[in-house]
Amino acid sequence: MQKQTLIGPFSQVITMDNLPLKGALTDDKLQIISEAGILIKDNVIAAIGKFSEMYANTNTTDIVTLKGKHVCLPGLIDAHTHICFGGTRATDYAMRNAGKTYLEIAKAGGGIWDTVTQTRKSTKEELTKNTIKRANRHLKNGVTTLEVKSGYGLSVEEELKMLYAIKEANKSTASDLISTCLAAHMLPKDYTGSEEEYLREISTTLFPKLKEEGLTNRIDAFIEESAFSEEQIKAYFEKAKEFGFDITVHADQFSTSGSQTAIEHKAISADHLEASTEKEIMLLAKSDVIAMALPGASIGLGCAFTPARKILDAGGALAIASDHNPGSAPMGDLLTQASILGTFQKLTNAEVLAGITFRAAAALNLQDRGTLKPGMLADLSIFHTDNYNEILYNQGNLKPCMVWKNGTLVYNKHNS
Ligand code: NIG
Ligand code: FE
Repeated sequence: MQKQTLIGPFSQVITMDNLPLKGALTDDKLQIISEAGILIKDNVIAAIGKFSEMYANTNTTDIVTLKGKHVCLPGLIDAHTHICFGGTRATDYAMRNAGKTYLEIAKAGGGIWDTVTQTRKSTKEELTKNTIKRANRHLKNGVTTLEVKSGYGLSVEEELKMLYAIKEANKSTASDLISTCLAAHMLPKDYTGSEEEYLREISTTLFPKLKEEGLTNRIDAFIEESAFSEEQIKAYFEKAKEFGFDITVHADQFSTSGSQTAIEHKAISADHLEASTEKEIMLLAKSDVIAMALPGASIGLGCAFTPARKILDAGGALAIASDHNPGSAPMGDLLTQASILGTFQKLTNAEVLAGITFRAAAALNLQDRGTLKPGMLADLSIFHTDNYNEILYNQGNLKPCMVWKNGTLVYNKHNS
């Protein structure tokens, strides 16, 4: 017997359906269904329509009647995070704000390597527990799908520990965790060989293991002066392609390197792009690579925002993610960050919402979520308001009152 649930009436259901993957969007293009009901069968949406009609015609006894104003969005998708880590980097933050440079902080024992050290000291069980805790916090904030990167292990063994921890965490949170291998985050300080040797070791030893154990389908690399060069990463990405991995890149964060490589290697996304100039923007917009803005990193570091407006106007596809990590983006509140990006970059509400729903789903190669229509997963973020404009206007202060994942109510503010 199929489980059926009818939910409603919603003041508005914002379906995010029938919108293009690329380019600028105006708010009048949003499909808004008012006084709506959503019928769920098992884990997927069976129908969306007028609640009164659905109520009159339904044979289900499982009806969730909403009292007061409610707006429903697709479950939010955070397509770039590093929430599997040990320790904290609060000292980096204080030092940065006191005027210390990246190099000075690294010399004083901070930076990515500090988190590598703290993560290596954590057991797999501790990492699993912390990842679940952070994923559940995102879930309460409406995020039902969350990408999680490794990249704080930086050896075959330690990267495996992280990816097993993410896999375990995925079993114990209602959220879907999509893992990515970021072994190419930086050359580990305790590695005695060259960058090329490290990358070769990872691609020949770790890649087959990732496939065998089903640990991830995605390979990421940080292309930057402090990490790996475009030249060094070529062979690594070619190997990743041979294994059939999707590629994603930390690109153009501080200098314009990485977006070109993302395009050449047909990466699914190029993330960061704070330093991208007109040239990179035009090339990205012409390509099939999704540009991913990470406003949490701009807010955490006090840097410029990704030129999101220009990317959209050039015809690019723009996703928005939190980059939640202990160093550059410790806040980890997608809705707050996406709204702030919207105000600084003059993005329409439709563009911001697209960036954290169906355009983010495309960046993770997920076709079963990101919009609300029959056949899609019943992942719902529900807010206590009668006007969707209130959600971004409140800049993250209006949190969901209910979250559904795969047709199950996983968070209800009134019960917590
Ligand atoms: O996406 N840019 C490189 N990696 C992370 C930062 C990681 C860290 O500082 O721990 C990022 O911002
Ligand atoms: Fe990142």
